[in-house]
Amino acid sequence: MKTPAISVIPPEIRCAQDYELAAQRSMAAPGYAYVAGGSGRDLTVAANLTAFSQWSVYPRVLRDVSGGHTRVTLARQTFLHPILLAPVAFQKLAHPAGEIDTARAARATDSCMVCSTLSSSLLEDVAQAAGPHKWFQLYFQTKREDTRALLARAEAAGYSTIVVTLDASIQVASARAMEAGFRMPADCVAVNLQTTNVGASVELAADDSRIFQGLMRAAPTWPELAWLMAETSLPIWVKGILHPDDALALKAAGVAGIVVSNHGGRSLDGAPASLSVLPAIRAIVGDDFPLLLDGGIRSGTDIFKALALGADAVMVGRLQMYALSVAGALGVAHMIKLLREELEICMSQAGCATLGDIGSGALLCY
Ligand SMILES: Cc1cc2nc3c(=O)[nH]c(=O)nc-3n(C[C@H](O)[C@H](O)[C@H](O)COP(=O)(O)O)c2cc1C
Repeated sequence: MKTPAISVIPPEIRCAQDYELAAQRSMAAPGYAYVAGGSGRDLTVAANLTAFSQWSVYPRVLRDVSGGHTRVTLARQTFLHPILLAPVAFQKLAHPAGEIDTARAARATDSCMVCSTLSSSLLEDVAQAAGPHKWFQLYFQTKREDTRALLARAEAAGYSTIVVTLDASIQVASARAMEAGFRMPADCVAVNLQTTNVGASVELAADDSRIFQGLMRAAPTWPELAWLMAETSLPIWVKGILHPDDALALKAAGVAGIVVSNHGGRSLDGAPASLSVLPAIRAIVGDDFPLLLDGGIRSGTDIFKALALGADAVMVGRLQMYALSVAGALGVAHMIKLLREELEICMSQAGCATLGDIGSGALLCY
């Protein structure tokens, strides 16, 4: 963090995406590069954004949208709008109050906050600050007892859903962050964990791979997921799914929902854009299976496009860090309000009164 953020919305913020530019002033350059960057050379970060610009929205006329709303029901929970706050680690990088301010903004805007395992605030404190909608994002730990302990804490703290992230067992460092000289500040730590250094303590034989036998040794497999599902009565969502065959197998395994995601381009550099694979995943899991999308959402029109291509709702990642760095809880709440209003404007102009009215026929592909 460059300076303590002040809780004033700068006048130049007119749309949600303006927070991206404003964050370049409120965050120190290395911290901003860490948040904005992806893995490797940012191919997938770029793909996520481009995928949205390949679609345009047909305006429709003379339709009555006066009874319109953005309510959505996801796995038996009703939300006033389809915008969730994606799990984002180390939020004290953006603001001294970190995840606590994000949780306050979630409460003020009736949004669901998904608290990261790698949160820089205690998951119990985040749960207290958040509103009624709070989910916990779980990373499998090397030892089952550590995973079980996290799960038990999340249950006790009142999180209603567990989102297991499956695509980040190994992450290539961001060239952009390294070139900017990024180092995680000493006071920004994963306070919910005993250790975050999964690959470090393993003893490797001379011909062992640092990847297969090292970093990937703790990566979850199908039996681990089955074990986890048997450990809790909470619904389990999975995050980081891009292949339709994986989506189908996960549905068959009994997960409550899927987050179509490439970790905002922070995992496999060269993975497809989340939006590009969404229609195929919707087609294979069927109309009624709960699907979220994240990756590249920067406007309400992006949300409309994601819903038109098969998502029930979306999660926003980087925008929350940008808004948090600019104006703390007020900034995050304002960013969500802007996104929601942008979505409502797009819906109205496209002649859609409810989210259910949004279909693929509303879009034109270049
Ligand atoms: C700084 C940063 C930290 C993140 N930390 C996590 C995390 O702890 N767990 C997780 O599942 N995803 C994490 N993500 C990925 C987000 O949940 C989400 O998938 C991604 O940011 C969506 O793309 P967007 O930033 O373009 O909205 C992180 C993303 C960023 C930018």
